[in-house]
Amino acid sequence: MTKEMIVTPWEVKGNIDYDKLIAEFGVSKIDDQVMTRLRKHTGELHHFLRRNIFFAHRDLNFVLDEYEKGNKFFLYTGRGPSGGTHMGHLVPWLFTKWLQDKFGVELWFQFTDDEKFLFKKDLSLEETNRLAYENMLDVIAVGFDPKKTHFLVDSEHAGIMYKEAIKVAKHITFSTVKSAFGLTNEHNIGAIFYTAMQAVPAFLPSVIAKKEIPCLIPYAIDQDPHFRVSRDVLPKLGHYKPAAIQCRFLPGLGGMQEDGKMSSSEGAAIYTTDDAKTVKNKINKYAFSGGRSTLEEQRKLGGNPDIDVSYQWLTFFEEDDAKLKKIYDDYKSGKLLSGELKAILIEKLNTFLAEHQKRREKAKDKIKDFVYKIC
Ligand code: TYM
Repeated sequence: MTKEMIVTPWEVKGNIDYDKLIAEFGVSKIDDQVMTRLRKHTGELHHFLRRNIFFAHRDLNFVLDEYEKGNKFFLYTGRGPSGGTHMGHLVPWLFTKWLQDKFGVELWFQFTDDEKFLFKKDLSLEETNRLAYENMLDVIAVGFDPKKTHFLVDSEHAGIMYKEAIKVAKHITFSTVKSAFGLTNEHNIGAIFYTAMQAVPAFLPSVIAKKEIPCLIPYAIDQDPHFRVSRDVLPKLGHYKPAAIQCRFLPGLGGMQEDGKMSSSEGAAIYTTDDAKTVKNKINKYAFSGGRSTLEEQRKLGGNPDIDVSYQWLTFFEEDDAKLKKIYDDYKSGKLLSGELKAILIEKLNTFLAEHQKRREKAKDKIKDFVYKIC
């Protein structure tokens, strides 16, 4: 049975209808004109763009207009440290790294230990702060440029952030927060205030530089309500509206019908620290298959890659278009069996994770190079 679609920063459920989200959230589709414009600056297009994984934006043309006039933008993204990093979190970060490399721009990365403390009943602030430092290892392992990347930890950078957050908060009513995020009278008042903190990195670099710098925020579409609200407020404080680029969710292993995105609480997630055997077991046990129930039927009728989680995951992690097409065709025709498709994904993920884990280990000595130093 199809569950009702819910997409908020704190809950994603049901069968996600991205066209409906485009209309409901008021974002724009990334069309050919935008792709061509991006390609002019980046040469090749990232496979997340070619495959419509990054599918929507707000004001990307404004950011490119300014860039072409010599006014570079900065990137801003983040992580709410509520647990280990899973493969879904890496999706916007891998894309952000590509943007940083292609445009040579600064990145501000926010770790919202305050958010996860306020929204998760069982987590203490000490624990969310500890998790922020765990998650940093994954962010560093993605390969961001330490000279151009600045980490903000909400509870630790409050000295520079709070002053700006209250300016934002003064322009947001409780009724706006209720309707934008579905928060209710039962939520604690910290949760109601929180969106003001997530708005701050979209203009803090401008405050620090004492000049207005355009901002581009990559994220999965669940975070959009925050920036819908900030885009209304920031011009009132004399700042640009932040631009944004949004991606789809890497589905949970249980499949698109069961859980909309991969999350730690919904279905089995693959973590960046999982070893090769764990990855293999999880995929074999949980990855929803679009295959037929018997080998004979599979050979005769073929599988359905459009609902097969292993295939869907390969659209995120197999960069080679020709290889991906062959997998699609072979699976559909019955040449490739479900177990074989799973084996391709397992191999791909384990190769990626082996490298990621090496860089993650080395990242332990690099944290101090990334955390923003307040002067
Ligand atoms: P968090 O920690 O829930 O998620 C971190 C980033 O990962 C994205 N994401 C996914 N992307 C693809 N597939 C998935 N299955 C998936 N699950 C999560 C999220 O959209 C996010 O981009 N409040 C934020 C932290 C934050 C932030 C930001 C995020 C602070 N400032 C600015 C983006 C941009 C949070 O809890 O994200």
